[in-house]
Amino acid sequence: MSNTVAPKNGQAPNPEAMSLEGHSKVIVVGNEKGGSGKSTTVMHLMTALLHAGYKVAALDLDARQATLSHYLENRRDLMARKGLNLPMPEYHAILPSDKVSRDEARQEDEDRVEEAVQRLRAENDFLVIDTPGSDNFLSRIGHSYADILVTPLNDSFVDLDVLAKIDPDNHNVIRPSQYAQMVFEQKMARAKREGLHKTFDWVVMRNRMGHLESKNQQAMDQAITTLAKRIGFRVAPGFSERVIFRELFLDGLTLLDLRAADTGIRMSMSHVAARQEVRGLLQSIGLPVIG
Ligand SMILES: Nc1ncnc2c1ncn2[C@@H]1O[C@H](COP(=O)(O)OP(=O)(O)OP(=O)(O)O)[C@@H](O)[C@H]1O
Ligand SMILES: [Mg+2]
Repeated sequence: MSNTVAPKNGQAPNPEAMSLEGHSKVIVVGNEKGGSGKSTTVMHLMTALLHAGYKVAALDLDARQATLSHYLENRRDLMARKGLNLPMPEYHAILPSDKVSRDEARQEDEDRVEEAVQRLRAENDFLVIDTPGSDNFLSRIGHSYADILVTPLNDSFVDLDVLAKIDPDNHNVIRPSQYAQMVFEQKMARAKREGLHKTFDWVVMRNRMGHLESKNQQAMDQAITTLAKRIGFRVAPGFSERVIFRELFLDGLTLLDLRAADTGIRMSMSHVAARQEVRGLLQSIGLPVIG
């Protein structure tokens, strides 16, 4: 018997789809560094999964910034304006608790995330969680529910610094930094809650890569490869610096919508190349690859 999940909308699953062990998957996109491409990655993963025929939920734990909710509002507006029928995720947002007592606030955050994750997981094939670019309790709890954690990382030692302290002379890893430590703690929290066998797959993807191989890129390659072994993540191919990854936001689209919907936007070579990058990421994470 295949243990690949069947899309809840009745379509056949993509043959390259991951093994889902008969239950839905939670994908958390996180990095404590702001502006690393978390919301951009969420939008692309979400639309790719929707176009592959899966029922998808999106949980926004960065509801103050609300990038994801604005993106979905834009998408709804476009559909109304142009009479398009685009697939939509089920959307839910959680703001940090405003209780004065720290303990009560934590408990409320924890209860809200747990309730939302249980419900959205039960009703959908995939739950994709966007998290803020800073450390807060909501983000921590969100990480503890990941089956897959995707961390986009800008191609810069400034951004790598939240993952590890790097030796400037030889680019070796001196020690893991605060975000890597938080991920480790949330892996432990999950194991404590759900049993020791429950851990998650951590995938780090490079974002906004330059098109020319630079000395900085080579040094980053070396540092990330060493770090992957040291703190236990996999490295996935990421996205290049491309206007297409940001220019469709106001219409609530990603390049994955262009072929599927009558948007009037023509696919250029850059769109095709960007689509290949998204496919590469999906494949490397083990997610269903769009056609
Ligand atoms: N591959 C890319 N090519 C071009 N622009 C990109 C790419 N990835 C992200 N961007 C742009 O970089 C900026 C930051 O991206 P995004 O908002 O996705 O990051 P974030 O990690 O969610 O930020 P925050 O921590 O503030 O939530 C945005 O302007 C986005 O459009
Ligand atoms: Mg964001």
